[in-house]
Amino acid sequence: MRFLIAGLAMLVATSVAAHDETSDHSHASIEPPVDASIVEKRVYRFKQSGAAIQSVFKQHLGNDDFASIAEAATLIADWADVMPDYFPAGSTSPGARDDIWADFDDFKSKAADNSRAGRDLYQLALVGTDKGAIETAAKKMGGTCKACHQSYQIKK
Ligand code: HEC
Repeated sequence: MRFLIAGLAMLVATSVAAHDETSDHSHASIEPPVDASIVEKRVYRFKQSGAAIQSVFKQHLGNDDFASIAEAATLIADWADVMPDYFPAGSTSPGARDDIWADFDDFKSKAADNSRAGRDLYQLALVGTDKGAIETAAKKMGGTCKACHQSYQIKK
């Protein structure tokens, strides 16, 4: 019975977290559940990153909200900086190709490309004068997500 209650509590906690991740206003919290596995933690951060990039294209660009774009770009780049640490050897998952660990230097370099593109977008958004350049930088950043996914993500 104890286990059942603990299990239910976890289920509730998980669905609350899942709701937060898909919200466009989830930039503030970057902490996955404390007792999450490494795979759950990275999936959580990827979902946040996905919500952040969506908010850029679906909301902030249209509203000329460059401050929010800068915030989203920082969230994405901060995650990209630590992303390889969330893929320790043996942390296989249904979403991750084994090729990640066959050429981990390439995986790291693709994460670094993502970070660099995020920082570039941040800089332009901070200045906030050239919307065309901001849009181009946002698309370029999106390209660095795709580049890694094509090689290393298993689409569900
Ligand atoms: C260096 C490689 C790499 C980069 C860069 C990268 N991703 Fe991913 N992404 C992955 C891998 C690998 C997975 C699968 C992780 C797993 O399931 O264990 C993934 C999974 C995801 C998921 C699915 C999470 C889920 O629901 O299971 C989303 C959403 C996502 N990434 C968004 C992004 C966005 C947005 C960017 C760019 C801002 C990005 N990723 C950049 C490698 C990358």
